[in-house]
This record gives sequence, C-alpha cells and structure tokens, in this order.
Amino acid sequence: MKTVETISWDEADQAVHLIDQTRLPGAYRNVRCASVDRLVRAIQRLEVRGAPALGVAGALGVALAARKIPDKDFRNFSEKLSADAERLRNARPTAVNLSWGVDRVMAKAGKGLSVKEVRELTLSEALAVAEEDARSCHALGAAGAAILPDQCTVLTHCNAGALACKEWGTALGVVRSAVEAGKKVRVIACETRPLLQGARLTAWELQRDGIDVTVVPDSSAAYLMRLGMIDVVVVGADRVTRDVVFNKIGTYMHAICAMHHKIPFYVAAPLSTFDPDRTEREVEVEQRGRDEVATFGGVETVPHGVPVLNYGFDATPLSLVRGIVTEIGVLAPPLDWDLVVKERERHSP
Ligand code: MRU
Repeated sequence: MKTVETISWDEADQAVHLIDQTRLPGAYRNVRCASVDRLVRAIQRLEVRGAPALGVAGALGVALAARKIPDKDFRNFSEKLSADAERLRNARPTAVNLSWGVDRVMAKAGKGLSVKEVRELTLSEALAVAEEDARSCHALGAAGAAILPDQCTVLTHCNAGALACKEWGTALGVVRSAVEAGKKVRVIACETRPLLQGARLTAWELQRDGIDVTVVPDSSAAYLMRLGMIDVVVVGADRVTRDVVFNKIGTYMHAICAMHHKIPFYVAAPLSTFDPDRTEREVEVEQRGRDEVATFGGVETVPHGVPVLNYGFDATPLSLVRGIVTEIGVLAPPLDWDLVVKERERHSP
C-alpha cells in the first residue's frame, strides 16, 4: 500500500511542496512554498497540519530559509536564519514536533562555518527528519497492528494519517499495518468539529486505500460504545507531556467514554511527539478564530455578538491511556521517562 506524500522538498524548484489539506476532499492540489512567509501561512491556515507533518515542515522551513537568505555576510545571514526559525517555531503552539523539527535543524546550522556549509547541513538534516518520520510511522504501525484483534472496529478522532505525517500515519498507520497483516479492520472516523479533519481527511485517505471507513458525528461516539460497536480507540497526539496527552479537541471526551465502557484507549505517536520537559500546565493550547465555529459553509450558525470558545486541543490524563504506540513498541503508563529520553536521543541524535 503506498500512501500520499504529504510534504517534500523540491530541489529543482528550491521550494517546499505540500498537499493543500484545506481543499480536500473536493480538490487535490499541491501548494508550493518558496518562502518562509508562505510556509508559515500554510501552517497557520492548516494547509499542512498534524504533529509529525509540522515537524517536517519546521525542519524543511529552516532549510528553505537558509536557501533564500542572501549570502553576503555570514553574521547577517545567521541572524536572519535565527529570526526565520523563530517565526516557524511560533507558527502554531501546541504540537511539539514543530519546534522540535526547527530546533533539530538549527542545531545542525550552528555547526556550519559558512553560508554554503549551513545550506548543506540544514537541508540534509531536514531530509533526515522527513525520512525518520516515515520510518517511525511504519515501525509504530507494525507495533500497533500486533495489538489489534484480528477483526475489529477502531474509533479514531481527527486525522492522524498519512496526511498528518510525511506518509503512512500514526493512528491510521496502525490501521494500515494491521490491514496489510491480513486483519479485518473497520474504522469509525469522528468528523472532528469544527474543521472536520476526520470527515474530510481521514475518510478521504482511507477510502483512497480501500480501507473500510464510516464517518460519525463526534457526539455519537459514546452511544456507539454503549451499543458495543467499538472495540478499540486509537488516536494520534500533538504532545505527550509527563502527565497528559494533548490531541485534537474531543479526544479527552473519547478517553473518558472508553474508560467507562472498558474499551482500550491507545495513542499512537512517534518519540518526536514526546515532551519530557513539560507538564500540562506549561503548554499553550491553541485557540482559533470565531468563524471556524460560528459559520458553516459560509452560513452564520451563531448569532452576532455571542462569543465562541474554540480550543484546538485538549489534554487526556495518562491514567486513561492503555498504551502509547511508538516506534520502540507500546509503552504503558506510567511511562519510563528515562527510557523515553534515552531512545529519543538514540533515534534522533
Ligand atoms: O489542528 P490539527 O489538524 O493540526 O490537529 C491534528 C491532531 O490533533 C492530530 O490528531 C495530531 O496532530 C496527531 S497527527 C499524527
């Protein structure tokens, strides 16, 4: 099974190319980001989204910046590169992969002694980030596939698929690997209000790969569990801190419902999504604009003057999580953070 390639570097074009996820499922279009400004806009508009894909975007963004900044004076070049890196890492706050990808490539940039060297180092490191993401997704997919029953219905939320990564996916990577291993897996995709990543993106990519998928309103998940229609919940993550998993708003609700119905709740995430240095209170949860909630298909759905709260993510305590499916296997809370830190360094030095 070959999935879409969500984001890549085009050497001939000297630009980052990505699938415009705001247009799916209606149109399949590539966007060309030939400047850091355009890439930051693509991140903020969710043309590219999903934690691992944001890690790759941040990494490639630094390489792009290094190519575009004039090479007259090395000191001036380095200052401009740091400023562009800062803009990239601040484009969205919650998914840790974004700052992780930027920082990893900037650490390499710091080793370059000339503009030419920095350009080479940043691009090779950014491409390594992208390749590692693909490898991690396949590895965690295999680890997760092993724990799925031979025949099962998986509930997922948002899009933690190929479109959220370089390819393959995390939660959907688990599903894909299980299907490849011959298991009969049916996916229930929660539509994921307000931007419908589940309905638009998860359903699109699973249908494209011939995997059984049904879309449901987010609010029906508890009832489907009550009816015995869900065997396991698998979601992605934007950041795993010492105490919680941050993921798309609505995830916490599924975790509570799953616990109530004794349904295993798994998170699938590469080690690049772990943040050993923070706890829940130290993480900024993105709040997005009113229009995303107050309009639907261009039509107003909330009266003028009534405020809207639009948190993009929520936090699920690790006590509700049966296991986190990673490229080094399924980690059951309470997590062994020494192991996580050691393996993170080994996998992405
Ligand atoms: O706002 P988004 O679409 O970037 O949110 C994405 C999610 O919450 C995903 O579940 C998460 O990034 C995991 S993707 C493998």
